[in-house]
Amino acid sequence: MPKSFGRYQVLGVLGRGSMGVVYKTKDPVIGRLVAIKAIPETLGLETGKKQEYIRRLLQEAKAAGSLQHPNIVTIFDAGEGELGPFIAMEYLDGVTLKEVLSSGKKLNLAQLTEIARQVGDGLDYAFQRGIVHRDIKPANLMIVENNMVKIMDLGIARLPFSDLTREGRLVGSPSYMSPEQLRGEKLDGKSDLFSLAVVIYQAATGKKPFPGQNIQEICYRIINSEFVPASRLEPSLPAEFDQFMLKALAKSADKRFATGKELFDNLRRLLVEKEPVPPGKSREQEEMEKEIPTTVVKREDAVSVGSSSTSSSSESAIDDIFRDLTLTHRSLKLSSEKESKVWQMVIGILAGVAVLGVIIWYFIRG
Ligand SMILES: Nc1ncnc2c1ncn2[C@@H]1O[C@H](COP(=O)(O)OP(=O)(O)OP(=O)(O)O)[C@@H](O)[C@H]1O
Ligand SMILES: [Mg+2]
Repeated sequence: MPKSFGRYQVLGVLGRGSMGVVYKTKDPVIGRLVAIKAIPETLGLETGKKQEYIRRLLQEAKAAGSLQHPNIVTIFDAGEGELGPFIAMEYLDGVTLKEVLSSGKKLNLAQLTEIARQVGDGLDYAFQRGIVHRDIKPANLMIVENNMVKIMDLGIARLPFSDLTREGRLVGSPSYMSPEQLRGEKLDGKSDLFSLAVVIYQAATGKKPFPGQNIQEICYRIINSEFVPASRLEPSLPAEFDQFMLKALAKSADKRFATGKELFDNLRRLLVEKEPVPPGKSREQEEMEKEIPTTVVKREDAVSVGSSSTSSSSESAIDDIFRDLTLTHRSLKLSSEKESKVWQMVIGILAGVAVLGVIIWYFIRG
């Protein structure tokens, strides 16, 4: 394990991805924790390509570094260390949606809507500044304290797909990629919204909409095949959810929701109890005239939608919206931290006993 990256002192490993390792580090100047993504990818490249890769990576990091949004991980710094280039970013203490889903959990409508609200908001903010994520997937969404969802790796997750296919290699799985991304076309925000919709479908049903045994099969399905209606896999979902998914996962970008806000608004509508519409008004008119709630709130058993003002209330049940998803992971994390401390103690004691044994043996002999 490297000791440091520039001034950042390495404390441990946070995780591993296809591009490299993410380290937990400390910035001694400011005293804050920083996550460092090291990208040793460039080590095997010839000099020209390596320089080009690093230039593009730092350029992307610069663009992502200019973003300031509560749902986007903040990029602090980028540089080149012994292990190749690295990106320094806000350290998050949380659970990725990938960890949640791989434990077999499914999300309810209120939780899905909250994910759509926060991720949609972060993506809209990035799109307005000309940045497309290109790699929205459960591993890049982290649930942290106060029910915040953070988008990770925005703009830096990987170089554009088209470049990688030109190189003849594919990093990661294409399961969350839009048809236009797989075709190597120019992307806009709707491509990320397609990926977000794949995440929502999987989180709701426990299954990916376009499964496959291999990359070719997955790509073929994303570009050509329909998907199983979500309500067939998860009967508690309303039929309207299937309609929502048809639009969110439309093959043609023009037929999808235009913004994250639009995607969220349409999902949120499924949560709102259908009140009778006054005579002479359309449902759309009625909804437009109502105050648009911005935060999903889960109260006891009933799920309703409240205005954003409720989110500051400490007794509000919003504090618990992701509780059932993250609880086991938090306790697992705590117990594995405890376990590793116990192991450190055991190794320490054994080493001490061994040293003592050597000393005693030395005295007995001499
Ligand atoms: N800012 C961060 N704070 C805390 N942990 C992080 C941070 N960024 C990444 N991690 C951890 O490191 C792991 C690896 O992240 P990385 O982005 O390298 O791979 P990935 O997104 O899981 O997969 P892939 O490389 O295929 O995109 C994540 O799953 C997460 O647990
Ligand atoms: Mg990632």
